[in-house]
Amino acid sequence: MVKIVRVNNHCIRLRYGKPIDTESLEYDIQNAEELQTLPSLPLEIEEKENTIKLSYIMGEATKVLGLGENVRGMNKRGGLYESFCTDDPIHTPDKKSLYGAHNFLLVAGDTPFGLFIDYPGKITYDIGHTVHDEMYITINDVHADLYIFQHGTLKELTLSFRSLMGNSYAAPKWAFGYQQSRWSYGTKEEVDKILRAFEVNEIPCDAVYLDIDYMEDFKDFTVDQHKFPKFESYVRELKNKGIRLIPIIDAGVKIEQGYEVYEEGVKNQFFCLNNQQEPFVAAVWPGKVHFPDFLNPLARRWFGLKYKVLVDMGIEGFWNDMNEPSIFYTEDRMQSTIDMAKQSEGENLNIHSFFGLTHAFQSLFNHPDDYKKFYHQMEGTLINHKSVHNLYGYNMTRSAAEGLKEIDPDRRFLLFSRASTIGQGRYAGIWTGDNYSWWEHILLNLQMMPAINQCGILYTGGDTGGFSGDANGQLLVRWSQLSLFTPLFRNHSALNTRAQEPFAFDEKITRILKNIIKLRYTLIPYLYSEYMKAVIQHGVFFMPLCFEYEDDFSSEVEDQLLVGESLMIAPVYRENAKGRYVYVPEDMLMWKAVTEKIEKTEIVEKGIHYIELALEETPIFIRKNSLLILSKPAMNVDNLDLSELTVLGYVSDEAVYVYFDDDGVTRNYVKGDYAEVVIRVVYEHNQFAVTIENKGNHTLRKLHLILMGPDGSREERELLIDQ
Ligand code: NOJ
Repeated sequence: MVKIVRVNNHCIRLRYGKPIDTESLEYDIQNAEELQTLPSLPLEIEEKENTIKLSYIMGEATKVLGLGENVRGMNKRGGLYESFCTDDPIHTPDKKSLYGAHNFLLVAGDTPFGLFIDYPGKITYDIGHTVHDEMYITINDVHADLYIFQHGTLKELTLSFRSLMGNSYAAPKWAFGYQQSRWSYGTKEEVDKILRAFEVNEIPCDAVYLDIDYMEDFKDFTVDQHKFPKFESYVRELKNKGIRLIPIIDAGVKIEQGYEVYEEGVKNQFFCLNNQQEPFVAAVWPGKVHFPDFLNPLARRWFGLKYKVLVDMGIEGFWNDMNEPSIFYTEDRMQSTIDMAKQSEGENLNIHSFFGLTHAFQSLFNHPDDYKKFYHQMEGTLINHKSVHNLYGYNMTRSAAEGLKEIDPDRRFLLFSRASTIGQGRYAGIWTGDNYSWWEHILLNLQMMPAINQCGILYTGGDTGGFSGDANGQLLVRWSQLSLFTPLFRNHSALNTRAQEPFAFDEKITRILKNIIKLRYTLIPYLYSEYMKAVIQHGVFFMPLCFEYEDDFSSEVEDQLLVGESLMIAPVYRENAKGRYVYVPEDMLMWKAVTEKIEKTEIVEKGIHYIELALEETPIFIRKNSLLILSKPAMNVDNLDLSELTVLGYVSDEAVYVYFDDDGVTRNYVKGDYAEVVIRVVYEHNQFAVTIENKGNHTLRKLHLILMGPDGSREERELLIDQ
């Protein structure tokens, strides 16, 4: 029996059976109108053999966007996908899932529609993989909520979905600064060495990350006093220099007598249980661990408050990792694999036995059946993990976010996670996990950004330069020219790979990267303003071109993005390329930025252009009738001077930009405590007229305007801002 309600003008919900409440969405169901008859649906839905199957016939031109963090292009057509949070570090196009499970699709056929499947277990999507024109979605259950969005453009349907998600997480402003990470900064000396190199090279930086090596034996909420003596004063000393230290927190809690987190968890039954109702044991970095039962509200609160020990030492940001959860092995599977190996001792291993043995060892890691071996306590009943798998990382991050709010109610912490599902955007951001130093992964990083935003996660970015493999300077430069625009701009790499800090290559690369990073600080007023407006208005920060332009070319473009309302970006992602083709959907002002200085600008007409781009040139396209707000660079966000800003505009008739600013540190923006400066530029009779309107308190005193008109006209002027 299906129960149907109208959720809003665009959306109906079809409830099958009695689904688990995932708390992915947060809207007022009381106001939803119950419908007695099923309205006409854009796709077929069938309950069959304990499954719910959805099918849709795609026209030749139909595109399918969405699925959040996933492999392949923006258009998901042609692929097979599984929604099941997975720690798979090799993001090749044949993979079916990455770390997030984001069940939102936008089908751009004759009549566009959106689909969100609110279901916490595995879902499979065959989007024209088996049969070119057919899409099949299978839920192996009869309990699920399906949300169908209709009667609007792709952008309207996305915004309608966004409006059901509750308030978005807002990262602090300093988290828009450049951030440096590497799995291996294991001692205070190493961190100091890195920071000295930033200083010597005069490269701005706001944060340095501490990966698992800062802990005592990989135990959460501990700091190894030998590696980081007087940690608390060190944290404060760096903070005074404008640098935040960001420690990692892992999902698995080390099993060790005397370790407080372990002992409290066991005593209070806060860990996931096995079928004997004892804490379930798996192995991750520290060896044997228990997994906190983040689906149990009491355990969630307990773990969340543990962050206090680090907050009390001055820490203002965290990254939550290994929370799919990642399982290196379970004891019984390891034992049976060892037995198998012993039996093969002395054997003449052939094609079957050799590969059988290697496969057994390889599949110890994240074995699907291991996810059936443990249980969560939800509302007094035990629920098998496999059926709620996709809620785990999300609830770990929720635990942290709620804990941090209780610990320091006013402060905005930096928080992001590896695993996630829809709903997590209320609590934190995500990074896109273990990519490679491959050129293909620059493109993949770009393609994921709008899809992740559609799922309500606004604070995001990839490991710039690639996590695994060895980057070269050229790759890091081109990748940074993309990350320059992602809210999270973090260079992170793995143990035993080539060093990839901005100064790790040669002088030329260091100079170029320094300029790119300085350019990032120049862009912060715009990026932060656009991000915060997306937070407050339940909007998106990144969009594919087809959200704003209806022509056929725009819907084909897979390697350009709209960033906020004024910009289009088209980064280079091919090795040794001296430029690239760019589709310009309307006349735009192109800025080939080398430094923060506004030079090398020209109007580019609508059409396809080959744009030459030397390694040091970042292409930035300012849309017609749009304004870009810039500041002078600084060594960190705390030192940005926001009292004097530059406005670069391309105006053919009228441009209106609402510049948002707030303290960037507290949650006061929620109470409306923020400023909006409305900058209006009108171009008429070959003249620009500028008006400014202020709302709220801000620090802006002076604007330097550089305005370009359609006929090559250019004007610069200064404007004092009245308070
Ligand atoms: C896996 C994470 O994805 C990676 O970023 C991190 O460096 C390693 N775990 C080690 O903690």
